[in-house]
Amino acid sequence: MKEIKIVVAGTGYVGLSIATLLAQNHHVVAVDIVHEKVELINKRKSQIQDEYIEKYLAEKDLDLVATTDGANAYKDADYVVIAAPTNVYPKFSVEFSWAMIT
Ligand SMILES: NC(=O)c1ccc[n+]([C@@H]2O[C@H](COP(=O)([O-])OP(=O)(O)OC[C@H]3O[C@@H](n4cnc5c(N)ncnc54)[C@H](O)[C@@H]3O)[C@@H](O)[C@H]2O)c1
Repeated sequence: MKEIKIVVAGTGYVGLSIATLLAQNHHVVAVDIVHEKVELINKRKSQIQDEYIEKYLAEKDLDLVATTDGANAYKDADYVVIAAPTNVYPKFSVEFSWAMIT
Protein backbone atom coordinates (compact mmCIF):
# COMPACT_ATOMS: atom_id res chain seq x y z
CA MET A 1 0.00 0.00 0.00
CA LYS A 2 1.31 3.47 -0.92
CA GLU A 3 2.41 5.57 2.01
CA ILE A 4 0.19 8.62 2.29
CA LYS A 5 1.78 11.97 3.10
CA ILE A 6 -0.49 14.34 4.98
CA VAL A 7 0.53 17.92 5.64
CA VAL A 8 -1.18 19.86 8.42
CA ALA A 9 -0.86 23.64 8.15
CA GLY A 10 -0.95 25.22 11.61
CA THR A 11 0.00 23.51 14.86
CA GLY A 12 -2.48 25.14 17.24
CA TYR A 13 -5.22 23.26 19.07
CA VAL A 14 -6.84 22.02 15.89
CA GLY A 15 -3.75 21.24 13.82
CA LEU A 16 -1.72 19.53 16.50
CA SER A 17 -4.66 17.36 17.56
CA ILE A 18 -5.22 16.24 13.96
CA ALA A 19 -1.49 15.78 13.30
CA THR A 20 -0.91 13.58 16.36
CA LEU A 21 -3.94 11.44 15.61
CA LEU A 22 -3.12 10.94 11.92
CA ALA A 23 0.59 10.34 12.56
CA GLN A 24 -0.24 7.06 14.28
CA ASN A 25 -0.98 5.56 10.86
CA HIS A 26 0.35 7.97 8.23
CA HIS A 27 3.37 10.10 7.45
CA VAL A 28 2.45 13.57 8.71
CA VAL A 29 4.30 16.83 8.23
CA ALA A 30 3.13 19.67 10.50
CA VAL A 31 3.82 23.15 9.17
CA ASP A 32 3.88 26.30 11.27
CA ILE A 33 5.36 29.77 10.84
CA VAL A 34 6.62 29.86 14.44
CA HIS A 35 10.06 28.22 14.79
CA GLU A 36 9.67 27.60 18.53
CA LYS A 37 6.50 25.56 18.01
CA VAL A 38 8.15 23.48 15.30
CA GLU A 39 11.20 22.80 17.48
CA LEU A 40 9.03 21.73 20.41
CA ILE A 41 7.03 19.30 18.28
CA ASN A 42 10.20 17.75 16.90
CA LYS A 43 11.29 17.25 20.52
CA ARG A 44 7.92 15.59 21.11
CA LYS A 45 6.72 18.36 23.38
CA SER A 46 3.60 20.47 23.02
CA GLN A 47 3.10 24.20 23.31
CA ILE A 48 -0.57 23.35 23.79
CA GLN A 49 -1.76 22.34 27.24
CA ASP A 50 -3.80 19.30 26.42
CA GLU A 51 -3.63 15.95 28.19
CA TYR A 52 -3.99 13.85 25.06
CA ILE A 53 -1.74 15.87 22.74
CA GLU A 54 1.02 15.83 25.37
CA LYS A 55 0.51 12.12 26.04
CA TYR A 56 0.49 11.17 22.35
CA LEU A 57 3.62 13.18 21.61
CA ALA A 58 5.46 11.70 24.58
CA GLU A 59 4.33 8.08 24.37
CA LYS A 60 3.10 7.13 20.91
CA ASP A 61 5.26 5.99 18.02
CA LEU A 62 4.27 8.83 15.70
CA ASP A 63 5.42 9.32 12.11
CA LEU A 64 5.43 13.09 12.59
CA VAL A 65 7.88 15.78 11.61
CA ALA A 66 7.38 19.54 11.99
CA THR A 67 8.78 22.26 9.75
CA THR A 68 8.50 25.93 8.84
CA ASP A 69 9.24 25.05 5.19
CA GLY A 70 5.68 24.93 3.91
CA ALA A 71 6.55 25.21 0.21
CA ASN A 72 8.64 22.07 0.37
CA ALA A 73 6.11 20.20 2.49
CA TYR A 74 3.07 20.96 0.34
CA LYS A 75 4.53 20.15 -3.08
CA ASP A 76 4.31 16.35 -2.81
CA ALA A 77 1.52 16.07 -0.23
CA ASP A 78 -1.39 13.68 -0.85
CA TYR A 79 -3.59 15.68 1.49
CA VAL A 80 -3.28 19.10 3.11
CA VAL A 81 -5.29 19.94 6.21
CA ILE A 82 -5.64 23.69 6.75
CA ALA A 83 -5.68 24.46 10.48
CA ALA A 84 -4.29 27.99 10.38
CA PRO A 85 -6.22 31.14 11.28
CA THR A 86 -8.55 32.37 8.58
CA ASN A 87 -9.08 36.08 8.04
CA VAL A 88 -12.46 35.78 6.41
CA TYR A 89 -13.61 39.29 7.29
CA PRO A 90 -10.38 41.28 7.75
CA LYS A 91 -12.11 44.64 7.14
CA PHE A 92 -14.83 43.82 9.66
CA SER A 93 -12.24 42.56 12.18
CA VAL A 94 -10.24 45.77 11.97
CA GLU A 95 -13.35 47.95 12.27
CA PHE A 96 -14.70 45.80 15.10
CA SER A 97 -11.39 45.92 17.02
CA TRP A 98 -11.21 49.68 16.53
CA ALA A 99 -14.76 50.06 17.82
CA MET A 100 -13.90 48.01 20.91
CA ILE A 101 -10.97 50.24 21.93
CA THR A 102 -12.51 53.64 21.17
N1 LIG B 1 -10.13 25.83 18.29
C1 LIG B 1 -11.38 25.55 17.94
O1 LIG B 1 -12.19 25.07 18.76
C2 LIG B 1 -11.85 25.76 16.51
C3 LIG B 1 -13.15 25.36 16.18
C4 LIG B 1 -13.58 25.52 14.85
C5 LIG B 1 -12.74 26.08 13.90
N2 LIG B 1 -11.49 26.47 14.26
C6 LIG B 1 -10.64 27.04 13.22
O2 LIG B 1 -9.52 26.18 13.04
C7 LIG B 1 -8.38 26.97 12.70
C8 LIG B 1 -7.27 26.71 13.72
O3 LIG B 1 -7.75 26.99 15.02
P1 LIG B 1 -6.82 26.83 16.31
O4 LIG B 1 -7.70 27.03 17.50
O5 LIG B 1 -6.01 25.58 16.19
O6 LIG B 1 -5.88 28.12 16.15
P2 LIG B 1 -4.50 28.46 16.88
O7 LIG B 1 -4.39 29.94 16.86
O8 LIG B 1 -4.40 27.71 18.19
O9 LIG B 1 -3.40 27.83 15.91
C9 LIG B 1 -3.15 28.33 14.63
C10 LIG B 1 -1.73 27.99 14.27
O10 LIG B 1 -1.50 28.32 12.90
C11 LIG B 1 -0.20 28.87 12.79
N3 LIG B 1 -0.13 29.63 11.55
C12 LIG B 1 -0.51 30.91 11.29
N4 LIG B 1 -0.32 31.20 9.99
C13 LIG B 1 0.18 30.08 9.40
C14 LIG B 1 0.59 29.78 8.09
N5 LIG B 1 0.50 30.66 7.08
N6 LIG B 1 1.07 28.53 7.84
C15 LIG B 1 1.14 27.61 8.83
N7 LIG B 1 0.78 27.85 10.12
C16 LIG B 1 0.29 29.07 10.39
C17 LIG B 1 -0.03 29.69 14.07
O11 LIG B 1 1.33 29.95 14.35
C18 LIG B 1 -0.67 28.75 15.09
O12 LIG B 1 0.27 27.83 15.64
C19 LIG B 1 -8.84 28.44 12.71
O13 LIG B 1 -9.15 28.81 11.39
C20 LIG B 1 -10.08 28.40 13.57
O14 LIG B 1 -10.97 29.45 13.23
C21 LIG B 1 -11.04 26.32 15.53
